[in-house]
Amino acid sequence: HPSNHQMEESSILKRAECRAKGGAPGFKVAILGAAGGIGQPLSLLMKMNPLVSVLHLYDVVNTPGVTADISHMDTGAVVKGFLGQQQLESALTGMDLIIIPAGVPRKPGMTRDDLFNINAGIVKTICEGIAKCCPNAIVNLISNPVNSTVPIAAEVFKKAGTYDPKKLLGVTALDVVRANTFVAEVLGVDPREVDVPVVGGHAGVTILPLLSQVKPPCSFTAEETEYLTKRIQDGGTEVVQAKAGAGSATLSMAYAAVKFADACLRGLRGDAGIVECAFVSSEVTELPFFASKVRLGRAGAEEIYQLGPLNEYERVGLEKAKKELAASIQKGISFIRK
Ligand code: NAD
Ligand code: LMR
Repeated sequence: HPSNHQMEESSILKRAECRAKGGAPGFKVAILGAAGGIGQPLSLLMKMNPLVSVLHLYDVVNTPGVTADISHMDTGAVVKGFLGQQQLESALTGMDLIIIPAGVPRKPGMTRDDLFNINAGIVKTICEGIAKCCPNAIVNLISNPVNSTVPIAAEVFKKAGTYDPKKLLGVTALDVVRANTFVAEVLGVDPREVDVPVVGGHAGVTILPLLSQVKPPCSFTAEETEYLTKRIQDGGTEVVQAKAGAGSATLSMAYAAVKFADACLRGLRGDAGIVECAFVSSEVTELPFFASKVRLGRAGAEEIYQLGPLNEYERVGLEKAKKELAASIQKGISFIRK
C-alpha cells in the first residue's frame, strides 16, 4: 500500500497534468540551485507566481526540506524536488523556463571573476543537461561571473547543436533594481516610478547605467552622476562587505530574478511590449554579448534595442566596459573550446 504521502504526491501530480492538458494558463519552471541563498527565496516567490503551474526545485543538497516546506503553500503551482546530479535530467525534462542560481558566491575581497574556476564547471554541467532534456526552454542565468557564464552556456549549446541565442538570457535585473532604488533616493521619488536602463555586463565597470535616459526625464549634476554610477557598479560589493563573509546579495536578487522571470513568462504567454534589460547575444556593439534592453516574446529575446544617444560620461564608460567585457567573454568561450 502506498503511504499517505505517496498517495498525496501522485494525485497532486495527476491534477497538475490535467490542468496542463486542459490548456489552463501555466508554465513549467525549474530552479537549479534551489536550496541556496538565492534559490530559497526565489523558490518561495515563484511558488506565488500565478503563471507557474509546475515548479521543479533542483540542488545537490537539501532540496527535500526546501521542497516539503514550500509545497505546503496554498498557491497554484505544484512543487517537486530533485536531489543530486542523477536527478538533473528529470528536473529539466518538460520545462519552459530554467532559472540558474547554482554556484558559489563572493566573500569580501573577491571579484566575481574569482568565482570562475568553480562556477564555470557547474554551469557547463547544467547546460549539457538543458541541451539534452529541454533544448527549447528559456534560460535565465544568474550564476557569476555572468559576463563569462553566458558565453560558456552559449558554447555548450552550440556544441550540442541546440543554441538559440534568443533563449539564453544573463540576468542583470538586480543592476536595474538597484539603479531604480538609488536614483529614486536622489530624486526624492517612489522607486516604482523610475526606470533606469543599465547596459554592458554584470561586474564593476561593465555595469553601465544610462542616467541620461532615465524615465521620467530628469537631469543630474556631475557629482550626482559620479555618485550614482559608482554606487550602482559597486552595489554587489556593498552587500558582500555588509554580509562580511556570509555571502552576497540573495534577497534583493531573488526579488529581481522573479521580476525578470515573470517578464519572460508574460512574453512566452504572448503579452505585448515586455521590455527588460538582459545580457544576451548581441550586435549592438562589436562584442558578441552585451546587456541592453530586449523585448521578450514567445521566442525569448525577440528584439534587442540599440543603446540610444549617450552623453560624454557614458561614452567614456562604454569604452571601459567593453575592454573588460571582451576579456571576460573570451575567457568563457575558451573554457569550452580549449
Ligand atoms: P549559495 O552558496 O547560497 O547557493 C548556491 C547553491 O547552488 C547551493 O545550494 C549549492 O548547493 C548549489 N549548487 C552548487 N553546485 C551545484 C550544482 N552543480 N548544481 C546545482 N546546484 C548546485 O549562493 P547564492 O548566494 O545563492 O549565489 C549563487 C550564485 O549567484 C553565485 O554565483 C552568485 O555570485 C550569483 N549571484 C548573481 C547575481 C546576479 O545579479 N546575476 C546576484 C547575486 C548572486
Ligand atoms: C550582485 O551584484 O549582488 C551579485 O553579482 C553578487 C556579487 O558577487 O556581487
